Amino acid sequence: MLKHCVALLIALLFSNGSTYAQLSDQEMTRRADSLIAQMTVEEKLGQLNQVAGDLSNFKRVAGILPVQFQQIREGKIGSMLMVYGADLTRKAQEAAMQSRLKIPVLFGFDVIHGYRTTFPIPLAESCAWDVELAERTARMAATEAAAAGIHWTFAPMVDIARDPRWGRVIEGAGEDPYLGSLIAAARVRGFQGADLSADNTILACVKHFVAYGAAEGGRDYNTVDVSERTLREIYFPPFKAAIDAGAATLMTSFNEISGTPATLSRFLMTDVLRGEWNFKGMVVSDWESINESRVHGAAKTNDDAAVLAINAGVDMDMEGELYVNLAKEVRAGKVSDAVLNQAVRRVLLAKFKLGLFDDPFRYCNAEREKALVLNPAHRALAREAAQKSIVLLKNDKNMLPLRKDLKTLAVIGGLAESKRDMLGEWEMVGRPEDAVSVLDGIKKQVSDKTTVIYSKGYEATRGKESLSKAGFVEAIKAAKKSDAVVVVVGETADMTGEAHSRASLDLPGVQEDLIKELHTLNKPMVVVLTNGRPLSIVWTAEKVPAIVEAWHLGIEAGNAIADVLFGDVNPSGKLTMTFPRSVGQIPIYYNHKNTGRPINPQNPNDRYKSRYIDLDNTPLYPFGYGLSYSSFEYKNLRVSQREFRGSESVTITVDVTNNSTVAGEEVVQLYVRDDVASVTRPVKELKGFKKLRIGGGETKQAVFTISAKDLMFLDRAFKPTMEAGTFTVFVGGNSAQTLDEKLEYLP
Ligand code: GLC
Repeated sequence: MLKHCVALLIALLFSNGSTYAQLSDQEMTRRADSLIAQMTVEEKLGQLNQVAGDLSNFKRVAGILPVQFQQIREGKIGSMLMVYGADLTRKAQEAAMQSRLKIPVLFGFDVIHGYRTTFPIPLAESCAWDVELAERTARMAATEAAAAGIHWTFAPMVDIARDPRWGRVIEGAGEDPYLGSLIAAARVRGFQGADLSADNTILACVKHFVAYGAAEGGRDYNTVDVSERTLREIYFPPFKAAIDAGAATLMTSFNEISGTPATLSRFLMTDVLRGEWNFKGMVVSDWESINESRVHGAAKTNDDAAVLAINAGVDMDMEGELYVNLAKEVRAGKVSDAVLNQAVRRVLLAKFKLGLFDDPFRYCNAEREKALVLNPAHRALAREAAQKSIVLLKNDKNMLPLRKDLKTLAVIGGLAESKRDMLGEWEMVGRPEDAVSVLDGIKKQVSDKTTVIYSKGYEATRGKESLSKAGFVEAIKAAKKSDAVVVVVGETADMTGEAHSRASLDLPGVQEDLIKELHTLNKPMVVVLTNGRPLSIVWTAEKVPAIVEAWHLGIEAGNAIADVLFGDVNPSGKLTMTFPRSVGQIPIYYNHKNTGRPINPQNPNDRYKSRYIDLDNTPLYPFGYGLSYSSFEYKNLRVSQREFRGSESVTITVDVTNNSTVAGEEVVQLYVRDDVASVTRPVKELKGFKKLRIGGGETKQAVFTISAKDLMFLDRAFKPTMEAGTFTVFVGGNSAQTLDEKLEYLP
């Protein structure tokens, strides 16, 4: 009796017209369950079914097939992807309102680094070491996407990547779990905002769970076999950070891990996600990855695969169309009502939180779409993000910045005039015509007295590396006539991204040959890299006086690159992935173990050490590396106390002096090594960073505070622990050049 009175009281409480989205989780769950109680098995399975729209020309116009409209009316489609636009999504919702239970459709899309306003690829943006920027660009992308009828982005991709052969390094934040975790959480906050029921916030989807970036050979979709320790110390942290930041959904990864396809892994999708991390959100498989578990050899039939996946904890089936046909297996008891209802509940709760049950059309506003998509404020942010993502790799004799009033400036390279490639490989609805090429950006900024001569030198054609040197003659001629040469080289967008792994990290095709020929002219020369992964540009790094890492920077690439080349912006980016000297060094990353036979830098030829007989162990450019037009000097590293115990914290201070006359920003990095522990620890681990703006001739202090909780690690039983002993503290402008001090933690 009391229970009914309470239920009645709750009903009365909420009869004041509060919306679904503002209900407590408990009340939302109650309402979801009352809806589930009305659903047939087929309708439940329909909610777990996500299908792509008409992909025949989706990058230009989104479409939904007639049969799909009918399936929506029959309650067989719970979510769609690759469908966008206020008008089209409205039509789909109208069809949903004709279904028996009128459950709205959930629209997902790959808003990876911008919707129509394309920002720098995430790997580039991570080089800004600017967590607040990561949140801002995600927020702006969500605003545009939501205005276009999208409820859910399949981002942030938080896969730690230590292998640049893997094309998908473009989507993440590099090799470090600490920085990757901060950026993951920031992007979740940006996409989801403070209120998911607002009409400019969308569900985030942290992906790809897990260790997708550890694919053997750097070959996409390949086998992953890492220890549980490496999983927990390196690959898990950004996912945990994203979930702690409130990520509403998570996506499985294509790869198997230690013998089980991630999509079928109960250890991952239930024990870790739900048991250890208390994740309440919805899990979606990656594209047909449930079906692919048959190909992995982990399931005999599609039905077997689907039963294994839903019982492992995967709630929604992306594009596999397996869950939607699982009624027989459900009725045969292979999927319990509890498991089925739990998956449906998570999907419905996502829709409740977005406010779709209050107003299925709240995201379908064509006027808002027109006003918000690709607007000037978004373009301005795209330029700021691009500027901050640029990493100055070399600038001998202050070759840069270039004067704007040079008499003649040669711009060489097929990539210099490319707009498409500046958008990166996840451009989706980003349009080349929206982008500013490097050539355009330079032309806009030089004086009207300057003549810019452009010559391709090499073809930057999608789909194949140009091996023709036919353009060299004209390029050399152009360079001969010029006062300075800007050579733009790197990768076309389709050499990066999904299913675009490379076995080589060299500049593609004939690009390095062109640089060598131009170099013989002894002209002031700058190489601008537009690429999506670390490249082993050893010859260029040695011979060319100025090198700018400019990645694929999005629609404002050309303007931002010109801002840096001509000095309107002082570059401040720092690499978040190690640049190898050779692909033969992979995996190479800064937070490596010491081994029992580390190379002796003072005696690198000492034979019986962990070394190559044909190459130096060190990277071409280390993690955290990046120069500036300023010149920063680190001095006077000091600690507030040498010994600490319990919860005491230690203050670490360093003076950073800008010895130039140019104000600039410096990312001061703090690393720590646990010298001896019950489990071997990396030689360095990033534990903090500060981005300081320091005026010419000025000295500023970077101050860090650390305590035992910052230094904990997983003991042999994977339990967080802190052990007595000495620690080495490193502070510097990159992971290789640091000042260091000792600390001791006492029991
Ligand atoms: C792709 C990608 C995933 C993406 C999904 C939808 O295969 O692996 O990251 O979100 O399919 O496009």
